[in-house]
Amino acid sequence: MEINNAGATSSLRLLQICLIFSVLILTYFSPLVRSSSPPELRILSAERRVDLSSHIIRVSLTLKVENIGTSPASEILLAFPPTQVDHLAWIKADAVVGRRKKKSSLPLEVKPSTIEDGPNGTKYYSIFLVNQLGSSESVSVEVLYALTHSLEPFPVEISQSESQLVYYHDSAVILSPYHIKSQETSFRTPSNKVESFTRVEPTAQSGTELKYGPYEDRTSYSYSAVIIHFENNNPFAVVEELIREIEISHWGNLQITEYYKLAHAGARQKGGFSRVEYQSRQPFSGLSSFKHLLAELPPRVHSVYYRDEIGNISSSRLRIGSKKSELLIEPRYPLFGGWKATFVVGYGVPVQDFLFESSDGARYLNYSFGCPLAETVVDKLTVKVVLPEGSEDPSVVVPFQLEQRLEKKYSYLDVVGRTVVVLEKRNVVPEHNSPFQVHYKFNPIFMLAEPLMLVAAFFLFFVASIAYLHMDLAIRKS
Ligand SMILES: *[C@@H]1O[C@H](CO)[C@@H](O)[C@H](O)[C@H]1NC(C)=O
Ligand SMILES: *[C@@H]1O[C@H](CO)[C@@H](O)[C@H](O)[C@H]1NC(C)=O
Ligand SMILES: *[C@@H]1O[C@H](CO)[C@@H](O)[C@H](O)[C@H]1NC(C)=O
Repeated sequence: MEINNAGATSSLRLLQICLIFSVLILTYFSPLVRSSSPPELRILSAERRVDLSSHIIRVSLTLKVENIGTSPASEILLAFPPTQVDHLAWIKADAVVGRRKKKSSLPLEVKPSTIEDGPNGTKYYSIFLVNQLGSSESVSVEVLYALTHSLEPFPVEISQSESQLVYYHDSAVILSPYHIKSQETSFRTPSNKVESFTRVEPTAQSGTELKYGPYEDRTSYSYSAVIIHFENNNPFAVVEELIREIEISHWGNLQITEYYKLAHAGARQKGGFSRVEYQSRQPFSGLSSFKHLLAELPPRVHSVYYRDEIGNISSSRLRIGSKKSELLIEPRYPLFGGWKATFVVGYGVPVQDFLFESSDGARYLNYSFGCPLAETVVDKLTVKVVLPEGSEDPSVVVPFQLEQRLEKKYSYLDVVGRTVVVLEKRNVVPEHNSPFQVHYKFNPIFMLAEPLMLVAAFFLFFVASIAYLHMDLAIRKS
């Protein structure tokens, strides 16, 4: 009886302790739980402009965001359907400060965000605010992004004389994890030839503009699929692979060699190509094909060449300017949908235009990333910076994420080989043509390596010939 009673009190004690503990744990963790749930935001007004005039789709999104919760917010989430995230090549966000004429923009950091439970596989990007957004405060942000491979040719095949039509899929309302009070979207098409578009009233078309909205009070994750079918004859120029080799020589030159695998990614060409029809019915034949592309090269470029498997192509034209030079690249035949061309472009530029000394005495290259061809998508870009022999500790500064590794390259007269910094990036658009830097340390003694090698080679040759002559004499004597 007594033992039993003691057992009962001790289990009661245990229960008490358990209770106290669980209360303690709850109070300890509850702030954590609360802060991990997103602060309550609401979008007061949203305006989206989608530019469909090229094959690279550019979207600008202006959002006015209000904090309707009690805790301050430091980030704003952007939601994307999973099909769009794979084609998202570039994104940038700015905070808009001031009003009207005094308006200025402040760049904000944008990063992919990993929120697991997005409905229907929604993917997120986070915009990090510089100043926290307090309760009932609001902020205006402007987001720009570019999508590639998002226009689907339909019909899939066209003949030489037909125009190219494409489908674009999107939503009439903006996909967002927040409630949107008022919003409007406009799509700009390259011409006013729009075959069809989904109506989500109010919808209006005027000229090259298709307007959806204004829509009021859409709950979070609202989505309303629309398909636009329209004419787009712009060159669908896609470089499936581009390797750019930048070789630094401290002897005054920067040698650039670019290996292109270019394709026309539009509607496939049906039937054979008739040059007679192509030439006699210009500009109505081969509307969606392209004859040439413009490459923007640095000013002061020299020794430019352009060749394919057959040999040098002399039809290219070069215009040298003080700010930039332009090279008109003209393949041997016009490119139709599904056709490909491989070629090499090479040029030299003065090293002093791109190679500098940093404050710590190290050297750095400052050159443009991306592809010199205008309005082109690069599926896979590899930039190889070949450092001079004897360079050490290379480090790269690039304003976006990419893969990097080091390789070694040996060319004639090299003793220890050259370090090659290899940078790789997929899905590259013209917005990636921004400067990047490769810093490295260099021992000037290596400047003498090549001439010394040459001198040594001559000296050896000289000694060998003397020895040979002596031998010869010796033989004749006997
Ligand atoms: C998710 O997908 C289902 C079926 O495809 C659809 O009915 C629903 O509206 C979608 N929900 C959201 C939030 O997009
Ligand atoms: C092509 O042009 C480059 C540079 O002008 C020259 O060095 C090369 O010999 C040429 N090749 C042929 C096959 O003509
Ligand atoms: C690199 O060059 C660009 C112009 O081409 C210039 O605006 C930028 O300041 C340079 N960056 C560095 C770190 O020198």
